[in-house]
Amino acid sequence: MSRNAYIVGTGHNVPDGVLTNADLEKIVDTTDEWIVKMTGIKERRKTDDSTATSDLVTVAVKNAIEMAGWEPEDVQGIIVGTVTPDYYFPSTAAIVADKLGMKNIPAYDFEAGCTAFIYGLVQAKAFIESGMMDRMIIVGADCLTKITNWTDRSSCILFGDGAGAVAVSSEGPGGRLGGWHWGSDGSMGKHLFQPAGGSKKPASHETVDNMEHTIHMNGARIFKYAVRTMHDSCMEALKMDGTEKKDVDLLVSHQANLRIIDATARALELKPEQVYINIQKYGNTSAATIPMALDEAVRDNTIKETSTVVLAAFGAGLTWGGMILHW
Ligand code: UT7
Repeated sequence: MSRNAYIVGTGHNVPDGVLTNADLEKIVDTTDEWIVKMTGIKERRKTDDSTATSDLVTVAVKNAIEMAGWEPEDVQGIIVGTVTPDYYFPSTAAIVADKLGMKNIPAYDFEAGCTAFIYGLVQAKAFIESGMMDRMIIVGADCLTKITNWTDRSSCILFGDGAGAVAVSSEGPGGRLGGWHWGSDGSMGKHLFQPAGGSKKPASHETVDNMEHTIHMNGARIFKYAVRTMHDSCMEALKMDGTEKKDVDLLVSHQANLRIIDATARALELKPEQVYINIQKYGNTSAATIPMALDEAVRDNTIKETSTVVLAAFGAGLTWGGMILHW
């Protein structure tokens, strides 16, 4: 008998600190009006100096396993998609597993920029449908404000911190993981990257002085690519799933820019009420945007027992991906 993978629990967590557009007006040459018009963002959350990605993830995972009705010892594996791990090593996943009392299980981080959560779901589907695991945790989490250049007005207005997690099981009921698509184009990597701190350019006084540990982004170039790849990913995932555009109930996409979300929704011929949007509250939290929005949509009953949901993302790499969920 063929096996399926189901999302049976969702959770998210954001730091308490709120950074509004009015706060940003005091830091860089910008206005609330410009930010809202160009991005849809009104405020975002920012961690304090003592809070790391693992702290947000721990609470998000706790919430997800509570909804699933699991105990920590039920979890057979945890993977965390992030570009802002606590450390290069050990992995944030291992730190969280230890904090939550998940003993001796596989725990690792992986990186696919803002697409990481979808890459994580594809991995979960493979592990669970193949019979390698029955219960695992997939996380998308980032603290982008830790690597933001607060003098660059074209990027610092976009980013926020957050974590989202799902519990994926071989047993429903829940959101069944359906058709999917994932891809990348490394030749575009230079348009969204952190130049220093890795093996190519290890940290030095010079790299710190040059702000090379912060996000470097060519926003306009990414924008066009994002609209195309998000749409293409959705169409490929729908095709694999055997689902028509007209049968989609809800789009939960990466929350990078309201204009990108709107363009994707238009291409899918969705009505405004069929698109989940929370970018106004959180900004772009990178790998966390989709699992955070998914958790909100589950908890506020936007996602119902019969919903067909499309997930779509793009991000650093550049990477992109889509997945269909059937509740
Ligand atoms: O998860 C993936 C992460 N990255 C993204 O998703 C980025 C996607 N790209 C975007 O969201 C958009 O490119 C931005 C919102 C970042 C910028 O919008 P844009 O339509 O691409 O504007 P632009 O960069 O072409 O800039 C237009 C104007 C420029 O002024 P001039 O040269 O026309 O006089 C900028 O200097 O807007 C100016 N500008 C600003 N003005 C006020 C750029 N940033 C700001 C700002 N406040 N914060």
